[in-house]
Amino acid sequence: SQRTKIKALLAGGQTGTEVTVKGWVRTFRNNQFIALNDGSTNNNLQIVVDFQNTDEALLKRITTGAAIAVTGQLIESLGKGQTVEVKATSIEILGDSDPEKYPLQPKKHSLEFLREIAHLRFRTNTFGAVFRVRNSLAFAVHKFFQEQGFVYLHTPIITASDAEGAGEMFHVTNFDIGNPPRTESGEVDFKQDFFGRAANLTVSGQLEGELGAMALSDIYTFGPTFRAENSNTTRHLAEFWMIEPEMAFYDLNDNMDMAEALLKYVISYALEHNKEDIEFLTQRLLEEEKQKPQQERSELNLLDKLQFCLDNDFMRITYTEAIDILRDSSHNKKKKFQYLIEGWGADLQSEHERYLVEKHFKKPVILTDYPKEIKAFYMRQNDDGKTVRAMDILFPGIGEIVGGSQREERLDRLEQRMNEMHIPTEELWWYLDTRRFGACPHAGFGLGFERLVLFVTGMGNIRDVIPFPRFPKNAEF
Ligand code: 4AD
Ligand code: MG
Repeated sequence: SQRTKIKALLAGGQTGTEVTVKGWVRTFRNNQFIALNDGSTNNNLQIVVDFQNTDEALLKRITTGAAIAVTGQLIESLGKGQTVEVKATSIEILGDSDPEKYPLQPKKHSLEFLREIAHLRFRTNTFGAVFRVRNSLAFAVHKFFQEQGFVYLHTPIITASDAEGAGEMFHVTNFDIGNPPRTESGEVDFKQDFFGRAANLTVSGQLEGELGAMALSDIYTFGPTFRAENSNTTRHLAEFWMIEPEMAFYDLNDNMDMAEALLKYVISYALEHNKEDIEFLTQRLLEEEKQKPQQERSELNLLDKLQFCLDNDFMRITYTEAIDILRDSSHNKKKKFQYLIEGWGADLQSEHERYLVEKHFKKPVILTDYPKEIKAFYMRQNDDGKTVRAMDILFPGIGEIVGGSQREERLDRLEQRMNEMHIPTEELWWYLDTRRFGACPHAGFGLGFERLVLFVTGMGNIRDVIPFPRFPKNAEF
């Protein structure tokens, strides 16, 4: 298929040459001007049709959504909005699109409507921009780690372990639904559902990642993870992609440095390589903001927000310091935060995180040293007996984007904590082996990829930054 991508033509195609382009018709005006898009950029290529010398039947088939191939001469455009256009000498219809039935009209559709036709929403400017940015961010993640000698480790999707110990797993089964294995008391036996063993979809590749790091030094995973929590929020998916680096000989400070460097690197990569798309998304948000009352509009636009994130150090404070700040804030008639006065030890609610990031510090915040009761079993225990070497990174407009920790490398302390939390040490014997043979300080974190894409695109709902969102009752395509 000899064809030139529209992005390349608009960026510097040689006028006077003959070109072939292929794409989908966005609009066809006055029987003369086709706006053609091939997904390489949001900017359409204008095709000028010599309608007097074109078959009437063919003209009728140039409709919104149709796939066409055009050959013609690239010429300088006299019209506004583009530098070059194509004067068509031949047009071929590759695939018709019945304008009466095609769900996408050349007008602005709501994101809610587009979510219902997720199979076609790729063809809109907004989703074109979002998925090109998503692609760049994924590439940048690999580039960042590869440049530093990390090994990309493929951890399993199907596993028997519950890495987070939170019980939010989807079972994997190969048994006959009509005739499942049963326990003696007659209940379905989920301990046997994967060829006679228990198995579920992974909630995190961390535990396996730690095994890799205990030999390869620095590894990262980047793959889908699954949570069976029944969350219908704009920040949760049942299937999301996570990036989980794990580094031997790292402590919590090294871990924070690594996470901050990663975030800044990938954001700056997207700003550089997807400038056009991020500018488009910035403009889109500004339009949206105009509908809101003045006091609810954000102070910075999307581009400035991203740049600000690059230019400033993330704030680093402990959970205990954060509680003090929230407590003080609640003295100032902010009733919402009042309940925190009662208890050190409570998990932060999203409004608390928002207060810290958006109102108090006005920049990304890394919270460390959480109470051990609200964190996973594998985090390294501090000498105070109350807190662990945890870190969460909170981002404006997003909340928690990264969760991580220094790991408990001391076998006795780890076993003791697992026992306290009723996590079966026998089942995780292989994990504990790394603490028996050549244990060393190490640390890692998980970056929620969709939350990162949310931040960089300025989109408001996590279902709009993954091509095929999985959330309760949604798995059709
Ligand atoms: O905080 P989480 O649960 O941490 C872990 O899974 C650790 N094992 C990571 C590690 O240390 N290697 O999840 C990490 C991140 C969160 O900060 C959030 O960005 C994202 O994953 N995340 C979700 N994103 C979308 N939908 C969900 N249901 C998510 N749950 C977590
Ligand atoms: Mg977390």
